[in-house]
Amino acid sequence: MRFIHVACFDDWRSEARTLLSDEVAPSGVHWSPADNQLGLFDQIDGRTTAEKKSDANCNEGEKPPRVSVPSPFLELARHVACHRDPTRWQLLYEALWRIVHGERRLLEISTDDDVHRLQLMKKAVTRDIHKMKAFVRFRRIEADRPFETYLAWHRPDHLIMRLAAPFFSRRFKGMSWTILTPHESAHWDQQQLTFGPGLPANEAPQSDALEPLWKTYYASIFNPARIKLDMMKREMPVRHWPTLPETTLIEDLIRDAPARVNQMIENHEGFAETGAHYLPIEQDLKSLRQSVNKCRACHLCNDATQAVFGVGPPNARLVLVGEQPGDREDIEGKPFVGPAGELLNTSLRDAGIKRRDVYLTNVVKHFKFERRGKRRLHKKPDSREIYACRPWLESELMALQPKIVICLGATAAQALLGRDFRLSQQRGGIQVTQWSERTIATWHPAAILRMPDKNREREMIEQFVQDLKQGNEIFE
Ligand code: URA
Repeated sequence: MRFIHVACFDDWRSEARTLLSDEVAPSGVHWSPADNQLGLFDQIDGRTTAEKKSDANCNEGEKPPRVSVPSPFLELARHVACHRDPTRWQLLYEALWRIVHGERRLLEISTDDDVHRLQLMKKAVTRDIHKMKAFVRFRRIEADRPFETYLAWHRPDHLIMRLAAPFFSRRFKGMSWTILTPHESAHWDQQQLTFGPGLPANEAPQSDALEPLWKTYYASIFNPARIKLDMMKREMPVRHWPTLPETTLIEDLIRDAPARVNQMIENHEGFAETGAHYLPIEQDLKSLRQSVNKCRACHLCNDATQAVFGVGPPNARLVLVGEQPGDREDIEGKPFVGPAGELLNTSLRDAGIKRRDVYLTNVVKHFKFERRGKRRLHKKPDSREIYACRPWLESELMALQPKIVICLGATAAQALLGRDFRLSQQRGGIQVTQWSERTIATWHPAAILRMPDKNREREMIEQFVQDLKQGNEIFE
């Protein structure tokens, strides 16, 4: 019997490779059940895991041969490795053994007990990562440092720091931060992500200047007409409440809810839910695109043929944001394929930009129209529809991390640059937003096409091309 301790996925993978090359069956291995208590710097057999790792790194030449496994298994194993279940290493090795011994398509058999258990573990870990992304709140620490540093404390259910931290370094790349969990900590210095030991809750600061901001934000998104306390507790588990400044508001908000509902009825506001309820857990472009047609956050989905999600390379540096799909876009399921798209194509060409390098999307994903006989005439989306659709656009921009965003028309400009933005006065100016260091607003090609005065139309096209050229700078 071989007794093996592993602390993380990389340990397990390297041990599993050795076992496979020695033809050791799962019944001949005892994986240490208490390994999840070990941090990177904990002692094992007199040596730290980190030392063992660095030994392993030095012995590149002695590594056992690589084993080829289907990539979905590696993806599954990376997640399962973060689960707290002490049997996970054993279960992973059993599945791996079966895969390399003739059951290559094992993961496709969802009724298999091992596969089922592994999938449940992966689901729990994915959900935990999702919660971490939603519930981590940074506090500014007033340490004697030359720059501001932010600190967050979070208690995940599983050992997910390494899978979750890259999201925060992308999302808050211009901020130095540390996230502490009881198991492990992650540090981002605006260049490098490093990991260290975990810390108990009382090491984290209790409040700071950011808290009032969080509370105002939460109070503004809290919809009293939709209070479901059980669901809130499930979505925002009570054990996270102490680290979420806005939760101190919950009692007050719930007490005031009936009065606020009445007020909302009077003001005709509220009630609309947003696309946030329909967002997938994984928020990469592919998952978002697959989920958008399930969105029922506003009534536009009832009449439109389909939701029209953005198109373009996931690593596009330039993103163009329009208003909403038109008649042709609604039918074809792609943005900017109608008359406005044709003008956009020629203008991009004149600006020296290849359309295939650009990501194109819209603020609102469904076509809003009015029927006139057989025709469907474009109708401007109202603020409630824009608000409902906003999580889709935000998630798209977060996944893309573009260098430059160009808003086409007032709807896109006001969605990303603020309601007070005036296209006629502020067109072409560069602004920093949370989405991109350079955000510009320009004319919407459809507005140019509607211009009755031909001289003015020519002038607008010139300005449009000029504004797009600012996007071209990043390609040079
Ligand atoms: N107008 C837009 O704003 N977007 C499209 O996709 C087409 C027309």
